[in-house]
Formats: sequence, structure tokens, C-alpha cells
Amino acid sequence: KLNDKSVELGDETKKGARVKVYGRIHHLRPQKHTTFITLKDGYGYLQCILQSGDLTKSYDALMFAQETALVLHGEMRSVPAGADAPDNRELHVDYYKVLGAAPSDLDAITNKVSMQQDVWDAQMLDNRHLVLRGENASAVMKLREFVELAFIDSYREMQFRKVSPPAMVQTQVEGGSTLFKYDYYGEEAYLTQSSQLYLETVIQSLGNVYCIEKSFRAEKSLTRRHLSEYTHVEAELDFIEFEDLLDHIEELISRVVDKVLADETARGYMKTLNPGFEKPALPFLRMRYEEAIEWLNKQDPPIPNEEGNPHVFGDDIAEAAERRMTDIINRPILLTHFPVEIKAFYMKKDPNDLRVTESVDVLMPGVGEIVGGSMRMDDYDELIEAYKKNDISHEPYYWYTDQRKYGSSPHGGYGLGLERFLAWMANQHTVRTCSLYSRFMGRCKP
Ligand code: 4AD
Ligand code: MG
Repeated sequence: KLNDKSVELGDETKKGARVKVYGRIHHLRPQKHTTFITLKDGYGYLQCILQSGDLTKSYDALMFAQETALVLHGEMRSVPAGADAPDNRELHVDYYKVLGAAPSDLDAITNKVSMQQDVWDAQMLDNRHLVLRGENASAVMKLREFVELAFIDSYREMQFRKVSPPAMVQTQVEGGSTLFKYDYYGEEAYLTQSSQLYLETVIQSLGNVYCIEKSFRAEKSLTRRHLSEYTHVEAELDFIEFEDLLDHIEELISRVVDKVLADETARGYMKTLNPGFEKPALPFLRMRYEEAIEWLNKQDPPIPNEEGNPHVFGDDIAEAAERRMTDIINRPILLTHFPVEIKAFYMKKDPNDLRVTESVDVLMPGVGEIVGGSMRMDDYDELIEAYKKNDISHEPYYWYTDQRKYGSSPHGGYGLGLERFLAWMANQHTVRTCSLYSRFMGRCKP
């Protein structure tokens, strides 16, 4: 059976079962005496064979094209040894009906002819609703579900509670420049950049918590890894030290990869998308920010900062440099202890070096940063000071500040971009193919 609607019509005969199958034409190969159709539905693929004669000379048969929806009746047989068909079976069709014809222009839309890359990319995005019908594009979406479920299962095993914080908020988390503002009944409000602050307010009542929610960022530059709307896997852990946070992140990634690879169906998608994938060895490489900029400067030729100069302490490690680094080192890196000045207001300082924070980014080969996390400033006065230093008015944050007043604790957490994680596992060039309908500057359709 291809799907639940496909029913067996009769008993198994000597040759095979008589079945009725619904699906769409994935691939069509008309030959002199026989027409081969690879039929698909959202669940799988089936080879169907129509003998010429009445069956393929009808008016309906003229309407056969990629994506035509059909119902087919026939006999299911195993394929002869050596022949190649999905699941080693084929349907010998003796009756069919076209349910929904399709124009035969899909090849022109989805096959790259001599076209400039950007024109082609735009065409793929305009036609995403059709592109999704392709084997690779749909495999990424199917794998995405496995990945998401693997996160949920891993958190359950580790006894984290799932919560669902609001998306409509009046506080920023990751800086004012990427806020999406809108009018909330006459008041200024934003689409959330991160659920972190809300997670921090519930560890006291619920213990370790996580959420998988949308986050929104008005990213005003176009890159391979920035979306305006993305799926954010975030967690917050109570009563921990920085080392515990690093160990936990490593364990989570390891569990998720194991779970995905343990599933036969998911392994099938991995085989289509990223056949060379291997689970990275544990532990991941740990590197402090200061070591990283030394490393960048030491390369031959040196990998410069955004202005083209050697990196100095306090410089951001920009996307290009980060990518070069992960490509050369070619294994996951836990990059830690970023300077206070280039990190968010809420990050706790390293008590042994007050210039830096107890922060971590996880960098993956081919993608770069997939996780950002830190220990949180848990001292009340220090937090009030941090608001001031960052020009943030503390009033809207009263509920966040209160956590430091009523039984504060050492705690920390992180956020992981699901699309970036998927881009890494499924070997996608950009996060845009890891989202059902991606959103970024200049694109809000389909
Ligand atoms: O590093 P970020 O900005 O950290 C936070 O938002 C923290 N408040 C999370 C936390 O501690 N709970 O974002 C975390 C991750 C990044 O590492 C990246 O994977 C992803 O979110 N991300 C994006 N993914 C796609 N498009 C964007 N514009 C993204 N911005 C961040
Ligand atoms: Mg970050």
C-alpha cells in the first residue's frame, strides 16, 4: 500500500494482489509497447507499468504529465531479480482514471537551463510550492520532522519540560537593530527574537525547560544562513556551572544525531541528501575566543577581520572568517568566552577574567554557528548595571529582573537554529531550503 486510501481489492492470486492506488506521476517513461510511471504520494514511490493498447491510447493518456493525479487499478507483483524498482515491486495496471491533469511545463520550471544563479534562485523560491514536490526538497522536509522529534525525545529523556512562551512581546533579547516592530492596540510591540527571557522565568517553577518556537529577526543583509522567521530550539538549565552547560549541549547534539540515524526511514533521507554524513566524534573541540583570533591571525595567509585587518581582542568573528575556520578545522567547535562588549546584556562575566563572558557558540563545518548560549547574569545589581550600559530601559524587564530578587540561582541556556542544524545534517548550501517557505529580506511569499 502506498497510503491509507489505497485498498487491496482482492485476494492474493498466484501472481500478486489486486490493488487500487492513488498518487501523482513523479516520472514518466513512454516506450513503444509499455509506459512506465513512477507514481508517488507523500509516503513513497511505486513503479507502475501500462501495456500499450487501449490503456495508453485513450484521450486520458494524452494528459499524462509530471504531477498528474491518478487512481490506478492493477496487480502488484514483485520485480524480477536484478530489476530496479522502489521496494522491489511494480503495479501492472489494467485500469486507471485521471483525477487531476497537469500541464507539462514543470520541467521548464524546475530544471536549470542556462540561467544566472540569482535568476534561478528567485525562480525556485517563487515556485517553492511546486519545487517542494521534488524528491530532494521533500526529503529535507521529511528529515526535518525526524530532527524535530529527536529533539523532543532527547529533552524528554533528560527530563526537560516543554513550554510555549509568547511570540508577541515588548522586550528585546538580541539587540534593537533586528527587532520587528508592530502596533499592538496602540502600543509598541515586537515579534520575539528569542524565548530565553521567558524560559528563565519558569525554571523556578518547572525545573529545566525547553521550547521549540518561532523567532523573528529583521536581518538586513542577505546571507546563506539568515532567515527573518526561523525555528528556535531553546533550553534553560537551573543550578549549573558553565562546564555543565557545555557538556549538556554536546550531549544533546549527540543524542539527536543518534536518534535520527537510528531510524531506518530517516536514514533513507540521509542517504539521499548527505550520504557521506558521519556522526562527529566526542568531545567536540573546545576553543576560547582569544585562542580563535590567534588561530585566525596565524593562518597562512591570515584570515582577516571585517575591515581586512588582523583580528584584535574585541573584534567580532564575522561570518566569512567563522566559515573559513570551521572548514579548515572541519569538526564541531565549542567556541567560548567571548568579550563582554560583543555579547548580549544578560551574559554572565567569567569571574576569572572580567573582560569575557561565560558564553558559547557551537560551530559546524559547512554552516558555522548553529548554537548560541551562555550563563546568565544572576546578580540583581549587576543586571541593573548591564541595562544601563546597554541603553536598555529596565522597566519593561521588571518580570525578568525579579528572578534575581526572589531566590536567584546560577543558571544558563542556549538557542539552536533548527534550520541551521538541518543544513548541517542534510548538507544544504543554505537554510532557505531547510524551511518550508523561507522568509528573508525581500521575500514574504509564497
Ligand atoms: O545566537 P542567538 O542570537 O542567541 C539567542 O537568541 C539566545 N537568546 C538563545 C538562548 O540563549 N536561549 O541565536 C541562537 C541561534 C543561533 O546560533 C542560530 O543557530 C539561530 O539561533 N539564529 C538564526 N537562524 C536563522 N536565521 C537567523 N536570522 C538566526 N538568528 C539566529
Ligand atoms: Mg549568536
